Amino acid sequence: MPARPTIAVTRWIPDEAVKVLAEAGEVKLSDADRPLTPEELREFVAGASAVVSMLHDRIDGSVAEAAGPGLKVVANVAVGYDNVDVAALAARDITVTNTPGVLTDATADLAFGLLLAVTRRLGEGERLVRARTPWSFHLGFLLGSGLQGKTLGIVGLGQIGRAVAHRAAAFGLRTVYSGRSPKPDFDGEFVSFDELLRRSDFVSLHCPLTPETRHLIDARALRAMKPGACLVNTTRGPVVDESALADALEAGEIAGAALDVFEAEPDVEPRLLGRQDVVLTPHLGSATVETRTAMAVLAARNVTSVLAGDEPLTEVRP
Ligand code: DGY
Repeated sequence: MPARPTIAVTRWIPDEAVKVLAEAGEVKLSDADRPLTPEELREFVAGASAVVSMLHDRIDGSVAEAAGPGLKVVANVAVGYDNVDVAALAARDITVTNTPGVLTDATADLAFGLLLAVTRRLGEGERLVRARTPWSFHLGFLLGSGLQGKTLGIVGLGQIGRAVAHRAAAFGLRTVYSGRSPKPDFDGEFVSFDELLRRSDFVSLHCPLTPETRHLIDARALRAMKPGACLVNTTRGPVVDESALADALEAGEIAGAALDVFEAEPDVEPRLLGRQDVVLTPHLGSATVETRTAMAVLAARNVTSVLAGDEPLTEVRP
């Protein structure tokens, strides 16, 4: 009987997904409760036919080489796949998959939660109560900014951007969006990136991280925003130049920011840490039990499909 293929899973995944994988091969789970170092990752995948990777794993040609000629599929448990060198893997006939769709609502919910948190100063208020700082209700206490009638600028109108726009409509916000091309089936105004920055009271980022979007929000972009504007980032940290963001907040060029992702996770630009006008969360966009389970199961089904010689469900192409 031929040996069952090895499926290397670089970090904990829910049992539901392990069960799916176990139908197709021997599941090798990393027991490190942290990201593997590049050396550990190469050692861990040696001999694997499939790798289930996380967004903190850098999967490039060297990892494919380390896995050996039997590697058929890399299933990244994330919608973003900037951590995978898709071209290098395609050149070796290795299929790459991601997990679109299943995390749309959870991520849009978090983006909206962050928008509310930064505009209504929830972090600041929570810290004040926890510190037992004396306070009493008065009409001028911890005033934030309302959403109704304001303009939300959505950078990147993919599935998550659309889901954020949907929520925005229920809150009485107007939506403008920028991206590669207008979406005729979307009832919102398509504008250039610069016009979006000029007109938006709040800017929410939903573009993938690519060479073009790295530091899209830089000193120039921040200067172009309204002085009262708030920035929300739930996509990838490097889309924002964190040092330029700290400068802009210090100079009062914008009013606040809410970040779920960081340039060098888990590190954060130190100047942002002490600021009351910044809300910081640890990459929680898709962090619900239901969503994380669905992501892992989708990744597992991609693996089982490819190992069975079938088409993957959600393939990524270079
Ligand atoms: C993704 O899927 O790309 C998120 O960042 C994690 O859910």
